[in-house]
Amino acid sequence: MAQQSTTPVERFDAVDVIHTKRDGGRLSDDQIDWVIDAYTRGVVAEEQMAALAMAIFLRGMERDEIVRWTQAMIASGERMDFSAALSRPTSDKHSTGGVGDKITLPLAPLVASFGVAVPQLSGRGLGHTGGTLDKLEAIPGWRADLTNEEMIAQLESVGAVICAAGSGLAPADKKLYALRDVTGTVEAIPLIASSIMSKKIAEGTDALVLDVKTGAGAFMRDEKDARELAATMVQLGKDAGVNTVALLTDMSAPLGLTVGNALEVRESVEVLAGGGPKDVVELTVALAREMLAAAGKTDVDVEAALADGRAMDTWKAMISAQGGDPDAELPVAKHTQEVCAEADGVVTGLDAMKVGVAGWRLGAGRSRPGEAVQAGAGVELMKTIGDEVRAGDVVAVLHTDTPERFDRSVESIDGAWTIEKDGASAGERTIVLDRIS
Ligand code: URA
Repeated sequence: MAQQSTTPVERFDAVDVIHTKRDGGRLSDDQIDWVIDAYTRGVVAEEQMAALAMAIFLRGMERDEIVRWTQAMIASGERMDFSAALSRPTSDKHSTGGVGDKITLPLAPLVASFGVAVPQLSGRGLGHTGGTLDKLEAIPGWRADLTNEEMIAQLESVGAVICAAGSGLAPADKKLYALRDVTGTVEAIPLIASSIMSKKIAEGTDALVLDVKTGAGAFMRDEKDARELAATMVQLGKDAGVNTVALLTDMSAPLGLTVGNALEVRESVEVLAGGGPKDVVELTVALAREMLAAAGKTDVDVEAALADGRAMDTWKAMISAQGGDPDAELPVAKHTQEVCAEADGVVTGLDAMKVGVAGWRLGAGRSRPGEAVQAGAGVELMKTIGDEVRAGDVVAVLHTDTPERFDRSVESIDGAWTIEKDGASAGERTIVLDRIS
C-alpha cells in the first residue's frame, strides 16, 4: 500500500508568488499572508525570499500591499502592550538609518528623564549604517537581550530601555532584515516601511517619532523618496492607532565626528555631559521635543536636562540595569591610520556614504550574517563641513584591529571631502528639513 504523506499541503507555491511580483503584478492579501507566515516557519527558503525581496525592490508595492505586508509581519509574532503594564506614557523613535547616527543613545535617557517611558527595541547594523545594539555592546558587560518582564521592570524603574527586539516580536522581520542586509535589498520603500512599522506597532508604543533620513548616506538618497517613505510610515502608524510623526533629516554628511561602535558611544556620552558636536545635539533635542510633545509634555526645557546631568544620570542607570559599566574604559582599536587633505581651502561637503562604507570596511559593520563586529573600529573625523584645511592636514583617523583592512577603507573614503578655495559656499548645515504628520 502506498505510504500517505504527512507533510501539510501549502496554499501557495513560493515560485508563483515570486513570479507574480517579478512580472510587476500585485500580490493578493492571501499570497502576502501565506508568504510571510511560510517564511517564518521555514517553508519558504531564504533564497526564495531573497528573490521575492529583489522583485519587490525592483517592482515596488502599492499602498494597500504595504499595509497587508506590514500586518502579516506583525501577525508573525506577539504584540506587546506597554500602556497596560506601565504607569507612565510611552514614546519611541525610530531612524531609517544613517552614518554616525548615534542619536538613540543620548535621546532615550534624555526623554526618560522627563518621566516618559522609552522602549527602544533596536537593531544591528544594516548595510553601511551602524546598529544601535552593536554600538552599545562596545560597553563592557552590557547585554542587549532582555525578557519582556525585564524590559517592563526597567521601564518602570529607569524609564528607558534599549534592547534587542525579543524573538517573539515580528520574527518575520528579524529574518528578512538579516537577509536584506546581505542581498542588496535594503533600499526599498515597502520593505523599509513595513520593517520599521511592524516592530513599532507590535511593541505597542503610544507615540512614535520617525527620523527619516535623506542624502548620500541614507537608504533614501533622494528627498522625494524619503518624503514618500515618511508619509507611508506615518499613515501605517496612524491606521494602527499610534500617534506618529516624522522628521525629515539631512544625511548628506555623517552625524557628528565619529562613525563606529565605541567611538560613537564616546561621542554620545559627550552629548549627555552637556557637550558634543552641534549637529548631534540639535537633532537629539529636536527629536526629544517631538517625543515629549507626543506624550503630552510640551512645556519642558530639554537642553537643561543635558546641561545639568539629569539625562546622564538616566543613561548611567539604563546602562547599569543591563549589566554594563557606564564608567568603564571603552575598547580602542589596535591600529590607526591617518587620512590627509590634498588641498587648501574650506570643507564644503563630506560624503556620508563614503565615510559609512569606510567604517564598515574597517570592521565596524558586517558583510555576512552573524559576523562579529569590532568594537573599536571606525572613522574619527578631524575635519568636517565648514572647517578650514591645509594640504597635508589630518582630516580623519581610521581605526581597526585588522590593519589589512586599511587599503580598502582608504579607497572608499578617498574623495569624501569637498574642499573649496572659496569656502563661502559651505553655509550652515540644516539638519531638520521638514516635519511630516
Ligand atoms: N530600520 C529597520 O528597522 N528596517 C529597515 O528596513 C531599515 C531601517
